[in-house]
Amino acid sequence: MDIKIRRVSAADLDAVTEVEASCFPEAEAAAKASFEQRIKTFPESFFVAEIAGKIIGFINGCISNETTICDELFSDATLHVPNGDYQTIFGLDVILDYRNQGIAAQLMNHLIEVSRLAGRKGVILTCKEKLIRYYSKFGFENKGVSSSGHGGAEWYDMILKF
Ligand SMILES: CC(C)(COP(=O)(O)OP(=O)(O)OC[C@H]1O[C@@H](n2cnc3c(N)ncnc32)[C@H](O)[C@@H]1OP(=O)(O)O)[C@@H](O)C(=O)NCCC(=O)NCCS
Repeated sequence: MDIKIRRVSAADLDAVTEVEASCFPEAEAAAKASFEQRIKTFPESFFVAEIAGKIIGFINGCISNETTICDELFSDATLHVPNGDYQTIFGLDVILDYRNQGIAAQLMNHLIEVSRLAGRKGVILTCKEKLIRYYSKFGFENKGVSSSGHGGAEWYDMILKF
């Protein structure tokens, strides 16, 4: 399988919105308007995975000086700090047909490497309990239950310190 990981472009808006809707329940999925804002605001930390021209997954997140993600960050692109300390991960998605082949891991390793090269202090994310073990494999530490109530679910704060 020839997977290409590349920076997002404005033309990818519909495709990433569709991938998100197929990966998350409606209450948790980011809307098209939100992706439009993210693509405009931090394209340098928004990457898509493509096979034969089809987007099958992506990873994205703004930059922050905080060590945990608060809910406001998801909806307010003005909170993005281009020269900040921590790369956040707002979303990691891979469509069902392509899961368990390491594509999310490739996207994670790509963003981690880009963050390292940019001189960040680390990467932060929130995840559900079932994925704590998965993110630990990349070196993330669990900081416990997050203050985020995104989509009415319970989330955990994870941090990877460089
Ligand atoms: C999580 C997700 C991105 C993984 O994509 P992927 O390309 O299949 O990931 P990889 O092939 O790198 O790794 C698969 C791993 O994810 C784990 N995983 C995926 N979904 C899981 C779940 N619901 N519960 C527990 N583990 C899960 C698998 O057990 C596997 O672990 P292993 O490496 O120990 O075998 C994909 O399942 C997805 O898009 N899910 C829906 C959206 C989501 O929950 N995103 C994460 C938001 S924090």
